[in-house]
Amino acid sequence: MNIHSYEKLWLGAAMLLIVVFIATITYGAVGLGVAMIDDAEETISPGDVFDDDRFGEPRVEQVGEDEYEVYVRAQTFTYNPNEIVVPENSEVTFYVTSPDVIHSFSVVGTNINTMVIPGEISTMTVEFDDPGEYGIVCNEYCGSGHHDMEGKLYVVS
Ligand code: CUA
Repeated sequence: MNIHSYEKLWLGAAMLLIVVFIATITYGAVGLGVAMIDDAEETISPGDVFDDDRFGEPRVEQVGEDEYEVYVRAQTFTYNPNEIVVPENSEVTFYVTSPDVIHSFSVVGTNINTMVIPGEISTMTVEFDDPGEYGIVCNEYCGSGHHDMEGKLYVVS
């Protein structure tokens, strides 16, 4: 090998490192077996939340073989549904909104942590690879019951 080949080798190694680095940031694990895929927002009038098709009856809905949509109402001082159950190896999109004040939808031990602002629908898609039990908590002070505002997320096999 001459000097030129070494140079190429190092250049290749450096490029590979950059690709791996970017991939790590993009697909970095947000918790054990939980990967963030998307994070976006849309709007809804707070007064319409209880009459809305999705948020009037918050629920888990299967939309594909391994795909689920979860509609969550974060309100003083609870989450509805309060217990969310999704299967392992599934892709789950959460839609969360508030009919009253600012809350958060934060799943302990993962990167699922979004502010829930009245008038906005916080949306995020995550992958659940392994079974587990997670606490859902509110990280935004929302009033006297703030500290009791919690829920559960079960990833089941
Ligand atoms: Cu809801 Cu703090």
